[in-house]
Amino acid sequence: MEAPLAVLALVTLLSPGLACPSPCSCSTKKNGRLLAECAYRELRDVPRGLSPNVTILTLSANRLGRLGRSSLAEVPELQSLWLGYNHISAVEPGALAALPQLKNLDLSHNRLAEFPWQDLRNLSALQILKLSNNRLSSLPAGALAGLRELRSLWLNDNELTTLARGTFEALPALAQLQLFHNPFNCSCKLFWLKEWAHSTSVVISRAGSTLCAAPARLRGRAVTDMPGSLCVAPSAQLTYLSSPAKAGPKDGLTLSLHCSVAGSPPPEIRWQIRTAGGRVDIHGPTVARDGGAKAGRRRFLAFKNGTMAIPDFGKDDEGTYTCVAVNDVGTRDVSVSVALAGSDVPAEELPRDDPQAGQPGGHSCAKGDELDPSGMGEKLLIVYHVPREVRSAAGAREFRLGVLPLALGLLLLW
Ligand SMILES: *[C@@H]1O[C@H](CO)[C@@H](O)[C@H](O)[C@H]1NC(C)=O
Ligand SMILES: *[C@@H]1O[C@H](CO)[C@@H](O)[C@H](O)[C@H]1NC(C)=O
Ligand SMILES: *[C@@H]1O[C@H](CO)[C@@H](O)[C@H](O)[C@H]1NC(C)=O
Ligand SMILES: *[C@@H]1O[C@H](CO)[C@@H](O)[C@H](O)[C@H]1NC(C)=O
Repeated sequence: MEAPLAVLALVTLLSPGLACPSPCSCSTKKNGRLLAECAYRELRDVPRGLSPNVTILTLSANRLGRLGRSSLAEVPELQSLWLGYNHISAVEPGALAALPQLKNLDLSHNRLAEFPWQDLRNLSALQILKLSNNRLSSLPAGALAGLRELRSLWLNDNELTTLARGTFEALPALAQLQLFHNPFNCSCKLFWLKEWAHSTSVVISRAGSTLCAAPARLRGRAVTDMPGSLCVAPSAQLTYLSSPAKAGPKDGLTLSLHCSVAGSPPPEIRWQIRTAGGRVDIHGPTVARDGGAKAGRRRFLAFKNGTMAIPDFGKDDEGTYTCVAVNDVGTRDVSVSVALAGSDVPAEELPRDDPQAGQPGGHSCAKGDELDPSGMGEKLLIVYHVPREVRSAAGAREFRLGVLPLALGLLLLW
């Protein structure tokens, strides 16, 4: 018994590059690549003792049940890994990340309900990814980002019900995609896929068999044939409504911005406010329908109808106000940056080169003025009059805008 073992050890020592575990047959291809052929061997695990120089490993049609984290640690040079037709139900995170040279990965016809998507970040050379005929029910947004060489992606025959917008966008080399035989839910969330399919040069194999399973009225219809009338991306428009102090000098100016949105389904309105003091994100109304403020924040009042009111608008509230309209089809944002500019001169004496502020009717022309919907960079300048005495007496902190706002100017600069 001892002699053959000794011989084996000797062979391994002398030419480790040719080490080949007994169930496999190894050969060097013409291009010098080392192939380890271990398919159809009823294997339950990745065999041990593979040469670190193996670049092609064939393990298809075995009985592998899982891939442990270090199961491929012996073969870091791997370029092609064929694991189709096994019983793999789990791939431990890190198992694939250790293969930075990997170009071809076939895990089709297995039992994967989950996949360590984060490992793909290390596989920047990947060209072919076959995950078809598994049990995958989701593909996280951004999971494929960074696969700049990926040419072919098979996700057919899984349990995907939806895909995040932009899933296939960061894949400049993608040429072929298979998505058929998944129970897609053709809600407006998936509408982007139809639009993308119609505009991309990627070949979507069997697009006619890429069908909706829900909702009931679209069952059996091709995803690429989803009706568009119900899914309309949001549009948004910001208007500025000024409401100068009504009563005494103690009441400050309330700045009101109104965001009117359209789309289907009706978009939800969110606000992002960036001031020198930081950023505030507001999702949904902060003021109940009856007008009473909900618990907490009172500085920014967001109404259900799309109006944002900032009572006692002061220097601290200067900044960028962004209205974000969101629905299942998409997102649209419009911004305005609001600044205050103090003036010692009454409105009537403001420089003539500012047509708005110079007019006595400056208030009304600001009311309902439409800000350019093109978005960022719009500038709203509120010019007000500060009597000299007030200015010198008041510290910057207690600075009140409500003191005689004589001119409200809307300057569309930029
Ligand atoms: C792997 O291949 C390289 C270059 O082809 C060679 O120098 C090295 O000895 C090989 N390593 C093993 C362990 O066979
Ligand atoms: C994956 O890539 C990251 C960043 O390049 C690296 O730090 C990490 O070690 C890699 N993971 C493995 C398992 O090689
Ligand atoms: C389909 O998606 C919509 C919108 O996300 C959801 O309300 C609905 O419950 C989903 N239907 C099924 C069958 O999953
Ligand atoms: C929205 O609702 C608020 C509070 O009811 C109201 O003050 C405001 O004028 C409304 N905005 C528009 C544009 O109707």
